[in-house]
Amino acid sequence: MRALTWQGKHDVRVESVPDPQLVNPRDAIVRITSTAICGSDLHLYDHYIPTMKAGDVLGHEFMGEVVEVGRGNKKLKVGDKVVVPFVIACGGCFFCQKQQYAACDNSNPAETADMSEKLYGYSMTGAFGYSHLTGGYAGGQAEYARVPYSDVGPIVVPKDIDDDKVLFLSDILPTGWMAAENCEIEPGDVVAVWGCGPVGLFAIQSAFVLGAHRVIAIDHYPHRLELAKSMGAEILDFEEVNVREALMEMTGGIGPDACIDAVGMESHGFSIDNVLDKAKAAVGLVTDRPHALRQVLLACRKGGRVSIPGVYGGFADKFPIGALMEKGLSIKTGQTHVQKYTQRLLDMILEGKLDTTFLISHRLDLEDAAQGYKMFKEQQNDVTKVVLKPRSAVRH
Ligand SMILES: NC(=O)c1ccc[n+]([C@@H]2O[C@H](COP(=O)([O-])OP(=O)(O)OC[C@H]3O[C@@H](n4cnc5c(N)ncnc54)[C@H](O)[C@@H]3O)[C@@H](O)[C@H]2O)c1
Ligand SMILES: [Zn+2]
Ligand SMILES: [Zn+2]
Repeated sequence: MRALTWQGKHDVRVESVPDPQLVNPRDAIVRITSTAICGSDLHLYDHYIPTMKAGDVLGHEFMGEVVEVGRGNKKLKVGDKVVVPFVIACGGCFFCQKQQYAACDNSNPAETADMSEKLYGYSMTGAFGYSHLTGGYAGGQAEYARVPYSDVGPIVVPKDIDDDKVLFLSDILPTGWMAAENCEIEPGDVVAVWGCGPVGLFAIQSAFVLGAHRVIAIDHYPHRLELAKSMGAEILDFEEVNVREALMEMTGGIGPDACIDAVGMESHGFSIDNVLDKAKAAVGLVTDRPHALRQVLLACRKGGRVSIPGVYGGFADKFPIGALMEKGLSIKTGQTHVQKYTQRLLDMILEGKLDTTFLISHRLDLEDAAQGYKMFKEQQNDVTKVVLKPRSAVRH
């Protein structure tokens, strides 16, 4: 089959690779009809996440048709149309029982789990197309994918629904939702969101649904800020204003009640701290550049809530632990427990309460995926989301 492979920093290529096979009884094989490029993929593209190997198949946002089902799966059948969560979870372990699917203890094979255990104290959960720290599973920017624990993750969607309407259940829609839920929004709350990429935009949408009184969105790309504005957010361009001062002014000197970091480890901006981070990262002295997170911790009101959907991978410098403690902030973060949210969000889509199609700015043939990565990386103002389709999906 054809699949997008990682070869090295800023080098991804569509190549012919072996078709996936059923390995375990609970596996299924999905023929992919739509797949998307995520901000998280850019961290791989820019080689910020360790343990990638040349030839790894990328992609964790995908959906399609079930073409084979292992005998241990009584839930799916051939022909089902499914969206597949990026998190691979067994459904039965201590964590899955608590619906903390992104902490599943069974989905990362032992030899790769050891690697993340050294980094984080406990091993990471399996995920599609996201380095050997998360199991080294082949991803879904491909014609087919093997889906482990396929009786737990994939959600069956109506056959006649347009892929565009449900594709983002695989990651960014639940991620935006959990980011807002983690803010524990109360009536009258002002929520500030750093980053108006897909995750930030869906966090804005979710924050309003969950009852935020006002949402203030921060970025520097005019088009992305316009999208935030069209969703009802007030906007701040961090290249034009001092963000903390502007937020203080907009909130009567109190600060936002809750703040969301939807930027992650590759902050933009020419502040002193970010320039130092970049220099240190270039020589391997730090791995992450948390400029936006520092700003979040300083800007959030005393006693406020901080939610971090943005991905961080290793170690960061100059973390304002004093502000965090002295102001009594609380923090919630993590990879999204996608499986916990898919049914509720699918229902909201089917009822017409949530629309995510506005985000898609570009559609490409899977064969042109390398160009898609380059565009998503270098033209972020206009390229808000790239959806890829394999040729085999168009032929069907
Ligand atoms: N927790 C999860 O499970 C999960 C899932 C999906 C994505 N993510 C992460 O969420 C983050 C966002 O993903 P995305 O797809 O929206 O990415 P993206 O790269 O499209 O968007 C990031 C946005 O942040 C903006 N930004 C950069 N520096 C900023 C700053 N200093 N202040 C304000 N805005 C700034 C950029 O201009 C850009 O618009 C990434 O780190 C991604 O890895 C996490
Ligand atoms: Zn993603
Ligand atoms: Zn589990």
